[in-house]
Formats: sequence, C-alpha cells, structure tokens
Amino acid sequence: MSDKKAQLTVDGVDGNIEMPVLSGTLGPDVVDVSSLTGKGLFTYDPGFVSTAACESKITFIDGAKGQLLHRGYPIEQLAEKSDYLETCYLLMNGELPNAEQKKEYVDTIMSHTMVHESIVNFFKGFRYDAHPMAMMCGVVGALASFYHDSLDINDPEHREISAHRLIAKMPTLAAMCYKHSKGQPFMYPDNNLGYSENFLHMMFGNPCEQSKIDPVVAKAMDIIFLLHADHEQNASTSTVRLAGSSGANPFACISSGIAALWGPAHGGANEAVLNMLQEIGDESRIDEFVKRAKDKNDPFRLMGFGHRVYKNFDPRSRVMQGICDEVLGAMGAENDPLLRIAKKLEKIALEDEYFVEKKLYPNVDFYSGIIMKAIGIPTDMFTVIFATGRTAGWIAHWNEMISNPYKIGRPRQLYTGYTQRDYVPLGQR
Ligand code: CMC
Repeated sequence: MSDKKAQLTVDGVDGNIEMPVLSGTLGPDVVDVSSLTGKGLFTYDPGFVSTAACESKITFIDGAKGQLLHRGYPIEQLAEKSDYLETCYLLMNGELPNAEQKKEYVDTIMSHTMVHESIVNFFKGFRYDAHPMAMMCGVVGALASFYHDSLDINDPEHREISAHRLIAKMPTLAAMCYKHSKGQPFMYPDNNLGYSENFLHMMFGNPCEQSKIDPVVAKAMDIIFLLHADHEQNASTSTVRLAGSSGANPFACISSGIAALWGPAHGGANEAVLNMLQEIGDESRIDEFVKRAKDKNDPFRLMGFGHRVYKNFDPRSRVMQGICDEVLGAMGAENDPLLRIAKKLEKIALEDEYFVEKKLYPNVDFYSGIIMKAIGIPTDMFTVIFATGRTAGWIAHWNEMISNPYKIGRPRQLYTGYTQRDYVPLGQR
C-alpha cells in the first residue's frame, strides 16, 4: 500500500474529497473511490475501461509490453516447459507443484473425469444441431444437481472438490457435445491417458476401435488449453466473480462464465475468425475485407485482431503461431489455403496505417482456429475448447474471491429515464 492520495473537487460538494491511492506489485496505481458513495457520488465507467473491480494475485497482463504472467511466470515459459494440469494447479494454489504434489493432483483430476450417467439424458433432450455452447451452458449448470455433497461454498474442501470436478469433467462434457452432434456413441474417459490425450480420445475415438492419438496433436491440444487457462478480469471471469459474489454455487457460476464467453467479441472470436477466413476464401479478396474493416459505416471487424488490454502482440498468439506451423507441418497441411490467407492478412494488417495507429495486433484467436481445424475439430466446437481451458482460471478467481472478504457485486448507474410520473389508466392511453 502507498501513502499516495488523490484529491477530487466536485462542484456543489464542500471541500476536497481525499481518496487513497493503492499500489499493486505490478501495474498502474488505482484510486480507491469506495468512499464517494458517502458523498452522494458514483463513478461512471461504461465497459469498466478504467475500473479495477477486485484485488487479485493470480494473473498479470501488461498490455503495452504484450506480457502475460500467471502467478509471476511468463506464459511463454509455461507453454514451453509446463503442461495444462500443472498450470491449473499453479493458478489455483499459487505455486508450482513439486513432483509428489503434481502426481497427486493429476491422479485426482483424472479420477473425476467421468460424469453421472444421467447426464446422457440431458444430451438426449438437445436437437442434433444444437450449438455446443448452448449444451455446455445447460449441462455445466446442471452438474450442481448431482453434487450436493460439495456445494457449501464456505467450506474450503467443498470448494476444492468442486474445482477438481469441473476441471476434470469439462473435456468429457465437451466431447459429449461433439458426439451428440455426430450421432455417435459417447466415449467414456480413459484415465490411463493424459488430460488432453483423453479429450482427443473421447472426441475422435469410437467403441469399436483402439484410439490412436498423434502425440504432436495431443501436445498442441494441451498447449491450446494452457494458453486459454486464464486472462485476469476479462468479461467471462468477471461474470463468474459477479455470479459468485451472490453466493451461487460454482457450477452455476462457471455456467454463467460459459454464457459470457460465447459472444464473438470474447471467446466466440475463434469461431468467427475461421468463418471470416472461409468467407474471404481467396487471397485476392483480402484487400476488400481490410477495406470493409476500416470503413466506419460498416460494422464488419477483422476477427482475431484487437484486444481491450493488449496494445501490442498478444503473447499467446506468438506461441499459437509456432504450434500452428508445427501441427500443419506434422499433418502435411503447410499449404492450407486458409493458413495462407491468414498469414497474408496478418502481414497486411500489421503494415496498414489504420491497424498500426489503433494498435490492433493479432490476438490468441487468430491462429487457434486454424490449428483446431487442422486437428479435425469443427468450428462450432472452438469456443467450447476455449471454455474447457478457461475453467481453470474461472474457478481459481472464484475461489480467490470466496476465500477472502468480499461483497456482492452491485454496480450503480447513471439514470437517464423518466422522473416520477403518475400511472395512466388503460382507457386514457
Ligand atoms: N477490426 C477493425 N477495427 C477494429 C477492430 C477490428 N478487429 N478492433 C477494434 N477496432 C477499432 C474500432 O472500430 C475502434 O475504432 P474507432 O476508435 O475509430 O471507433 C477502435 O479500433 C477501438 O475499438 P474498441 O471496440 O473501442 O476497442 P475495445 O477495447 O472495446 O474492443 C475487441 C476490443 C477485442 C472487442 C475488439 O478489438 C474486437 O471486436 N476485435 C474483434 C473480435 C476479437 O477478435 N475478439 C477476441 C478478443 S481476444 C480473446 C478474448 O479475450 O476473448
């Protein structure tokens, strides 16, 4: 904490209002405005562009530098040296596990991968062409109806079991969405496989044959989960915190996070990128789409470009670019026409004055869709994969909030509607 103070003078309010200025370990100082309500004032910040809604020790982003740290560790190092489950442990517990802790954690997660058999009935209720994110919102929320034994949010052990269950069951539910859309039998998890290998087994395996998982693909899948594991107070994580602040159970909170992630400005962008590349269809049409993206009167945006926080390269997109080359190389798909369009689009956007001036760099979603397409994952499953990876971050933030003193999230408003007026009887309207 610093001794700095901020002074505010407001017409009509007596004297100077003095507010504490708080300093974190990294990042800008924040002005603690919580005393303003006592002076009859609120702050106004649509989109929370200047508002820190909480204190957190989990993830730090420096958008200008293009830096992303989980518990202090750079994302590039985690992507190169760690794996998804170890990163989940790190996010939740604050430190990397030692060998024994890691083994115990992996064994625990892998022993929770199966879902209650009644979940199958939920899937039977969905149309074959239901969007997998719609199914995920429903079935993840429904998990609360199966685990009454771990819903006491004030009990740290209950919170831990719920966290394990969510991280373990998300890939199983994600793969069930895919199998449902294909009309294929659901695959039970194989707990002898690694986390990401098991996901690919449940996605692409069938009960009649032994699954064959390409280790390059399994590694790429694991890094995709890892790169999506957390991103501090983004829209879906803030949604999870807000839902959790009312005391709602973790399954309901994660389901609300999935709903917030679904939109194309957030997690839905990876699906939108691939749809956009397909719509462009040919390198000769790139200029036309870039021109549309720059036109103020056209709502079209280049999907996969720009970020609220990064005003530099998204560090995850550089890692993703590397895996993209590796996966496509391993699959002999280096000349994939969509990849060629993506590379050309990236080059143009990085040189174009509009994108340079507005600091619109490729984000994580720009390359992830191309990799997932090469792996054989259908476009509408992309955001489900994002949700599966992000569950680690959501649950870590939820747990951090519940473990510390917190208030129900209750933003205020600038009301611009009618002042009080009298009810008009039906016959007089
Ligand atoms: N294409 C064209 N113009 C853009 C784009 C884009 N992708 N992104 C922003 N702009 C322009 C925008 O029109 C505005 O111009 P002006 O100042 O002239 O009005 C300016 O850049 C700032 O945009 P903004 O919407 O005020 O910025 P924001 O911080 O509110 O939005 C964003 C960030 C990610 C929603 C936005 O950049 C966007 O819509 N990008 C495309 C969707 C996308 O790729 N989303 C994935 C984000 S990364 C994954 C995740 O975290 O979920």
